[in-house]
Amino acid sequence: MNPIIVALDFPTLEEANRLAGMLDGHVGGFKVGMELLMGEGPRAIETIAGHGRPVFADAKLHDIPNTVEAAATRIRDAGARWVTVHSGGGLEMIEAANSGMGDTGVLVVTVLTSISDSDLPTIGIDAQLADQVVAMTHLAASGAAEGVVCSPAEIISVKGAESGLKVFTPGVRLSGSTPDDQKRTATPREAVSDGADHLIIGRPITRADDPVETAREIVASIAS
Ligand code: C5P
Repeated sequence: MNPIIVALDFPTLEEANRLAGMLDGHVGGFKVGMELLMGEGPRAIETIAGHGRPVFADAKLHDIPNTVEAAATRIRDAGARWVTVHSGGGLEMIEAANSGMGDTGVLVVTVLTSISDSDLPTIGIDAQLADQVVAMTHLAASGAAEGVVCSPAEIISVKGAESGLKVFTPGVRLSGSTPDDQKRTATPREAVSDGADHLIIGRPITRADDPVETAREIVASIAS
């Protein structure tokens, strides 16, 4: 299985769809994020799903269970294979998302990677970040989520806490390449050997001179 999910972070569906067409056959799936979803609506999911690869709708839902269930149903109907929800919505909300998605495909964002240890008390959380990630991983498993999204630094502790959950990891960079604004990066091979099931990769592929060749190199680097 090809573990690469390409983050199609573009302002227009036209640009996202053009790249998806180029990469089809070289990657395992596509991620549609908030920018495209807000700009183009569910048709962004429908169009990208038309390439026949699974679509990851990074909607980061966080609302009362009834609202989240209805939103997840719309996202599933548009053709998404996965949807993200925030752990802070609690168990009932995660279960509602699961029900809206048809009992599969919910991915829980444990703690945003932009949050640091010093931020946690300011949002009322009295815990170390690493412990909070593990606690939210257990919550995801209790809500029958399919997986969690976490940084490369957390893959081992998440897999250790709940080996049945799939791990989706952004912050992946080829060795020697720019980290952009990612703070905790790993190479594709490191992330997979730590236990990541899927690698969410945006700019290293989407901004490459030759996106197809870069995707091929990443696949080869994992296999080598
Ligand atoms: O371009 P880059 O490879 O950094 O893209 C990573 C993708 O993963 C982006 O779409 C970003 O929004 C997303 N993401 C992330 N960190 C998270 C969750 C999602 O970088 N914690």
